[in-house]
Amino acid sequence: MDGPAASGKSTVARRIAERLGFTYVNTGSMFRGMTYMAVRELPSLEEAVVSQSVASWDVKSWLEGGEMKFTVNGVDPLPYIRDENVAKNVSPVAAIPAVRLILKNLQRALALEAPLVMEGRDIGTSIFPDTPHKFYIDADVEIRERRRLGEGVVDSIKLRDAVDRARAAAPLRVAEGAVVIDTSHMSVEEVTAAVLGHLREQGISA
Ligand code: DC
Repeated sequence: MDGPAASGKSTVARRIAERLGFTYVNTGSMFRGMTYMAVRELPSLEEAVVSQSVASWDVKSWLEGGEMKFTVNGVDPLPYIRDENVAKNVSPVAAIPAVRLILKNLQRALALEAPLVMEGRDIGTSIFPDTPHKFYIDADVEIRERRRLGEGVVDSIKLRDAVDRARAAAPLRVAEGAVVIDTSHMSVEEVTAAVLGHLREQGISA
């Protein structure tokens, strides 16, 4: 499941996972975790510095108790990934191919552990291009900005979208064969029902 920031995909992906008894994996939190550690540990976020440094980091992810766990050099960055400093820097860090390669290998390996609902920006285009179960969750940008403000979160949605779409490495795109759902005027329940309906037609149901 892919889509731009604040499109509602996390909420829907979590619900779909619950309904199917699958494990929910938010890949944005992995990019945010890498960004938190980069901001904390590195002298700069220049591509050469980040690429060279992350190559020696011990980055792990696994499933435990129905959840994805993630550590970098033994530190769990997940409690800090909503910090404004992380939101501000995550798109440029996520554009660095060395970072994407590390996470791609981990994300693909997670699918060997259990059935997943995985969400992000490049799941259908790059991580699992062969899956027949692709969704692209979208919404008008004004509505997405209003949703984030409603959550009381400071976020640079337009800027992140622009960087996520423009980068050379696995940019945000509608994957071939993805079902596109515009959630601008839909409730979470309606979107969830639509996704479950498509999956049911594909032979996947609770
Ligand atoms: O889903 P999110 O807004 O928490 O993701 C944070 C950033 O991470 C997003 O702006 C771009 C990056 N990201 C990515 O490049 N690829 C993914 N599969 C998931 C997130």
